[in-house]
Amino acid sequence: MPKTADRLKGFTESVIREMTRVANHYGAINLSQGFPEADPPEEVVESARRALAEGVHQYAITWGAPRFREALAAKQRHWMGLDLDAEAHLVVTCGSTEAMMVAMMTACNPGDRVIIFSPFYENYGADTILSGAEPIYVPLRPPSYEFDPGELRRAFEQGAKALVLCNPANPSGKVFSEEELKVIATLACEFDTFVITDEVYEHIVYAPHRHRYIAAMPNMFERTISCSSLSKTYAMTGWRLGYVIAAPEVIQAARKVHDFLTVGAAAPLQEGAVTALELPMEYYEDLRLWYTERRDLFLQYLDQAGLPYTIPEGAYYVLADVSRFKVTDDLAFCRWMAKEVGVAAVPGSSFFHEPVHHLVRFHFARKKETLKECGRRLLKLKDAA
Ligand SMILES: Cc1ncc(COP(=O)(O)O)c(C=O)c1O
Repeated sequence: MPKTADRLKGFTESVIREMTRVANHYGAINLSQGFPEADPPEEVVESARRALAEGVHQYAITWGAPRFREALAAKQRHWMGLDLDAEAHLVVTCGSTEAMMVAMMTACNPGDRVIIFSPFYENYGADTILSGAEPIYVPLRPPSYEFDPGELRRAFEQGAKALVLCNPANPSGKVFSEEELKVIATLACEFDTFVITDEVYEHIVYAPHRHRYIAAMPNMFERTISCSSLSKTYAMTGWRLGYVIAAPEVIQAARKVHDFLTVGAAAPLQEGAVTALELPMEYYEDLRLWYTERRDLFLQYLDQAGLPYTIPEGAYYVLADVSRFKVTDDLAFCRWMAKEVGVAAVPGSSFFHEPVHHLVRFHFARKKETLKECGRRLLKLKDAA
């Protein structure tokens, strides 16, 4: 039998999806794989139905249906404060997942180095390897998840071609402050490095924190490849709609990668999602409040279970500290918790480059009743240590 490619040896199958299988096996509540337990607004679903009924079945323009791009440019102009042009500055992709792969392949030659903050969303390691680049990890140390500017500078000095910025961050819940973004921006300009952002949680940020787009900072638009998607903002992770925003020269290159990877995102869903992109401003405030309620509720349950955590500033994950259980193998701990407690989480080590084994990640994008039941189950941990 012929051998599969060597590049695949560099990474394993997703631990998150493995934990979903474990959750199903034990009938545990799945707080591992992060998707919202909510539907998109009904008028958005109705729009997609209409697009299908009206015969939108064939390929859209490869870099995005014109109505979708116009609506997206208008929405992002408002939020990013940038004068975006729907023709020049956008590529519509199959989720942020494709956007990140496109960005990486657009920015990097084989052998180039890419800075990744650790802990990181698990796709980045794989994206880097698939595009032939090499990761340089810079730690965000728990429990505050701050980086050391000196350490970051040394990473740039190793000749990094790009830096990946997940903001708000999964799994840490960190929202990078203006000062931190300035440090990153200054180094990126000094070393002529791309910044590839993953901003899928741009609208899930808890007061008093605020999301800032690094692309909108001085001298940054020309070197930032902004990736995001509609998945989390409109509770439509299965629609697979995302995008890349960048300078026209970068977009020209990114469109080529996208065209040969996927041709395009689903045409009828792009038409349907125009309604989502045109939702009024109150939608985003309601979204923030919906998640704030769930975050506050879930943190209260962690308190009751006696698990310390870092308060998430954005996104819908929390890293909880399970050192009280003398954990040396956090994967085994998560399996045990799914079986004995009935709640599935992700072992923290799957997000860290460093040997960190005392954290587990829960997501709280669930209905309040579901979270309440988790709270009840997690009480079993209180006396378990
Ligand atoms: C940081 C981050 N980026 C990207 C994704 C995937 O986004 P999409 O559905 O747009 O591909 C996720 C999903 O959990 C995520 O947490």
